[in-house]
Amino acid sequence: MHQPPTPPGDACPSAAADTDTDANACPPPRRAIRSYVLRAGRMGTGQQRALDELGPRFVLPYADHAVDFSGVFGRSAPMVVEIGFGMGQATAEIAQARPDTDFLGVEVHTPGVGALLKRIGEMGLGNLRIVQHDAVQVLEHMLAPASLAGVHVFFPDPWHKKKHHKRRLIQPPLVALIASRLTPGGVLHCATDWQPYAEQMLEVLSAEPLLANTAEGYAPRPDYRPLTKFEQRGLRLGHGVWDLVFRRR
Ligand SMILES: C[S@@+](CC[C@H](N)C(=O)[O-])C[C@H]1O[C@@H](n2cnc3c(N)ncnc32)[C@H](O)[C@@H]1O
Repeated sequence: MHQPPTPPGDACPSAAADTDTDANACPPPRRAIRSYVLRAGRMGTGQQRALDELGPRFVLPYADHAVDFSGVFGRSAPMVVEIGFGMGQATAEIAQARPDTDFLGVEVHTPGVGALLKRIGEMGLGNLRIVQHDAVQVLEHMLAPASLAGVHVFFPDPWHKKKHHKRRLIQPPLVALIASRLTPGGVLHCATDWQPYAEQMLEVLSAEPLLANTAEGYAPRPDYRPLTKFEQRGLRLGHGVWDLVFRRR
């Protein structure tokens, strides 16, 4: 289903070497290993228009300090962060189905940001904002400890080759960071279609002392996570999908 990105090599490329020139999406040089590769992606005209017209209202600038999201959304509501929303299909559908919750989608890829903005416009979503930046830094700096009702990580890049496993998002340090940002009772929901990664997720999440599994092993897909077209195609081809739903103690 999801093709792995083509890694450019292990060194962190400079901003100038990146094909995507959005300065907001470039990490500072101190992080040597990134979970993504910025690729040149073609922007559709609708995506570009959404970026121009809706970006100023719905894309928040990255900040290196905790942000008051009740000020951003103009209300006090539970907030869920999605890491790596891709083209944002699931993100938009979930935000539409849960109007009482606010959503922050974090993605580095500009066409994906344009695509989600287009959906925001078409669906009239007021409870969704975007940050175009490395989600690891967003969690570290923009989000206060014990502030989130949930974190979604749907189909993160599987980085199939063993030498690239270090690029996988779901590893102990990031899971500990995510757990620290959840309120007690808050939920971390991961999904993958790559069984070895599912096994890694189950091992890493189970070992995090702040988290408790809501299921015996893998969880049934919660109703709120829609089947995207990639997933439907994969399921038709007989591929598996694994959901993991853990709750902060
Ligand atoms: C395989 S895609 C899955 C997209 C989407 N969640 C889906 O289910 O279709 C993974 C996405 O995560 C994004 N990503 C990976 N690491 C990221 C990070 N550290 N911060 C923000 N986005 C990231 C990539 O740019 C890519 O769009």
